[in-house]
Amino acid sequence: MLINNAKDALTNAYAPYSGIRVGAALLDEQGRIFKGCNIENSSFGLTICAERVGVFNAIVNGSKRFKALCVVVEGNLKPTPCGACRQVLAEFSQELEIIEVNTLGYESETTLGELLPDAFTLEQKGGGQNKNPQK
Ligand code: THU
Repeated sequence: MLINNAKDALTNAYAPYSGIRVGAALLDEQGRIFKGCNIENSSFGLTICAERVGVFNAIVNGSKRFKALCVVVEGNLKPTPCGACRQVLAEFSQELEIIEVNTLGYESETTLGELLPDAFTLEQKGGGQNKNPQK
């Protein structure tokens, strides 16, 4: 289900420069699903990954507690969230299950805690003004 949603999102990827199409789907604690795809730009540094688009899509729709993320990449690449996306995901859920898929049949499961151990968050360290950024 989540995998199909991520594959569906991949079909909307805008990736004319790298040719690497990526889709993501996030499942929240209420069972809602939010999709994202990578969106590239001729000013390359403005490119955004599918995972972050998925997170931001969820946030703007009022959801920020997630159970699982599926990321799917086209072709024979190893799918896994980049470092920037791991940090953005850690803002909202340390316990996140992550399903990594490519369109040639590769499938693997991990967790955000495994991918980004000892993540920096203000909530965890008790620092900063905003003691509970998830609220
Ligand atoms: N990309 C993602 O969408 N997610 C990742 O986790 C890694 C990379 C995209 C960004 C860019 O459009 C293309 O893949 C090549 O880096």
